[in-house]
Amino acid sequence: MLDALHKIKWEVDGSLSFRRSCAHGICGSDAMRINGRNRLACKTLIKDLDISQPIYVEAIKGLPLEKDLIVDMEPFFASYREVKPFLISATEPEPGKERVQSIVNREIFDDTTKCILCAACTSSCPVFWTDGQYFGPAAIVNAHRFIFDSRDDAGDVRLDILNDKEGVWRCRTTFNCTDACPRGIQVTQAIAEVKQAILRGK
Ligand code: SF4
Ligand code: FES
Repeated sequence: MLDALHKIKWEVDGSLSFRRSCAHGICGSDAMRINGRNRLACKTLIKDLDISQPIYVEAIKGLPLEKDLIVDMEPFFASYREVKPFLISATEPEPGKERVQSIVNREIFDDTTKCILCAACTSSCPVFWTDGQYFGPAAIVNAHRFIFDSRDDAGDVRLDILNDKEGVWRCRTTFNCTDACPRGIQVTQAIAEVKQAILRGK
């Protein structure tokens, strides 16, 4: 699909606007609705679509439209920043040493390390469409990545943030996010694990 969009832009209408960078499913910049489903254009093969019909390409939903297929991603990244998506450790490792982690502990959050921040999940969520204040699946996925990291000391802070009225409890478990994720992340499961951690007090 990305090649088709390039062909249109370069040979038919140079004003067509869309984001893309890597063209290999890594940068996350070309999420869009293709035939009504959120996908990455660069990972969507035309041969897998029904080409007996026109292919409909639209901007992802729930974020302010800027032009053609480009939306304003700032509300999405504002929620991402709010969950503190970085390692916060109260201690420093010994000089020259790494923060050691067992294979078992690393496995607990392996799935959520794969996020490329494409927003396909958040912009497929009906709650996010109607309530732009909801943190959305991607922010929760990225909180999950650190909440369950044994080297991190700020899990409780993130759980407090996500226990907010615009946090995890807005999720209605519709699974749109899991279906939309081009990385195959079990997004709904990650949200459920964060909910359980809040109820357990982590
Ligand atoms: S969880 Fe998946 S769909 Fe959501 S932003 Fe990350 S990579 Fe994209
Ligand atoms: S262009 Fe980078 S993920 Fe598609």
